[in-house]
Amino acid sequence: MKIRPTKGLTFDDVLLIPKRSPIASRREVDTSTFLTPAIRLHIPIISANMDTVTEARMAIAMARAGGIGILHRFMTIERQVHQVQEVKRAQGFIVENPYTIRPDATLEEAQKMLDTYHIGGLIVADENGRMVGILTQRDILLPTPDVTLVRQAMTPAERVVSASRGISFDEARRLLYEHRIEKLPVLDDDGRAVGLITARDLVKLERLPHITMDERGRLRVGAAIGVRESEMERAEALLEAGADVLVLDIAHGHADHCIAMLKRLRKRFPEAQIIAGNVASREGARDLAEAGADAVKVGIGPGSICTTRIVTGFGVPQLTAIMDSAEGIRESGRDIPIIADGGIRNSGDMVKALAAGASTVMIGSLFAGCEEAPGAPVLRDGQKVKVVRGMASLGAAMGRWAAEHAEDESAEDPVDWSKVVPEGVEAVVPYRGNVSEILYQLVGGLRSALSYGGAHNIRELQENAEFIEITPAGVRESGPHDVQRA
Ligand code: XMP
Repeated sequence: MKIRPTKGLTFDDVLLIPKRSPIASRREVDTSTFLTPAIRLHIPIISANMDTVTEARMAIAMARAGGIGILHRFMTIERQVHQVQEVKRAQGFIVENPYTIRPDATLEEAQKMLDTYHIGGLIVADENGRMVGILTQRDILLPTPDVTLVRQAMTPAERVVSASRGISFDEARRLLYEHRIEKLPVLDDDGRAVGLITARDLVKLERLPHITMDERGRLRVGAAIGVRESEMERAEALLEAGADVLVLDIAHGHADHCIAMLKRLRKRFPEAQIIAGNVASREGARDLAEAGADAVKVGIGPGSICTTRIVTGFGVPQLTAIMDSAEGIRESGRDIPIIADGGIRNSGDMVKALAAGASTVMIGSLFAGCEEAPGAPVLRDGQKVKVVRGMASLGAAMGRWAAEHAEDESAEDPVDWSKVVPEGVEAVVPYRGNVSEILYQLVGGLRSALSYGGAHNIRELQENAEFIEITPAGVRESGPHDVQRA
């Protein structure tokens, strides 16, 4: 047994000492960073792979804002793949392999597809995959009673303006404008629709220069996987669907089976970007870095819904965990980023995590109340709230069981739930509107912080960072005090 002589510190234990600043305006600073060495983000913020935080809708909003979302893994492989595809199709210069429908399908079937995939149009293709027309939401809005089939409502191919593979952004823009059309199918030499360009996507791309995009102009998205051998299949399917990064995510990432899985993934998918975690020590970060991780996720028990520290007695206060992990990564000789995961309540916490050595922060509860998080808001005591739950909570375990057995009507609940030892809680958080509003505040705080830190960017913030430990009196002084909140 040994006891470490230095104290473990977390966000509230410290402040950053202001530095002489060359920054005259918050506009001069650069908030960009790296998620992994190959993935650049405009803002250092990631939405957590929790089932009350990140599914496709949140991932889309995060990437559009310059961050990224990590899809949780507590769903079937098919559903997670579908979510990756939904993000990938949400935007891009060319939507590849657009959804198609047969001309003899009913309008009802077409509507169902439009709703399921949240899209505004379908390519109508014959049995050989050749485009015979296009069908948009407008075509089926108010059909007369005799119009029931796609063939009757579609715009036939001879009236459709199309493009061929290799069309440039500017050419597509010109064609869409010249013909005043919203959709431009991209056809191969045999007349098969291999892509779709939409006016909406081009406008979005032009208006949002800082979105997190892959080389094809599609939004980037990450997806979590587990550590079991069977998860190889999930990894392969996710990468195949276009996931930009995999997050090998288990509660105690500094474990032989996690390291072994990481090595297997690395070997099988040498080109893939793989994040691994969670760890909270120098050795943990070093071992994952040495095993081939492209970034290490740090945090054991700092999260708002975590009870790991109470249930097990293990954990490291988050600021110390980040600093120790940074040392471990240096020791490994690799230059890979740290993701500070959990416990971020405001922009100040984020800035401290970054200054301590993280390149990005992962956020759960703060985003769980957003419109884009899964689940609808409910009213509690007259206030709109949304549910957030730890992925190791009893509710999450029950939810997973229910989801796995959703199709199986005969399945009786065989689990003795009293035997589960949860390491997380379920809670509610205030409904917070769109995540872009929270991100605006977080990034605004970061910009201001860079100026206080005399830094043009996050790297300079880290180089200049000087923390000062504070007392409980200092904590009290740091918040609003001796006034009545309006
Ligand atoms: P915040 O504070 O942003 O933290 O809500 C999100 C992170 O918390 C972790 N997490 C858990 N940790 N038991 C835990 O000990 C749990 O049930 C649990 N669920 C999530 C996770 O790292 C997440 O990103």
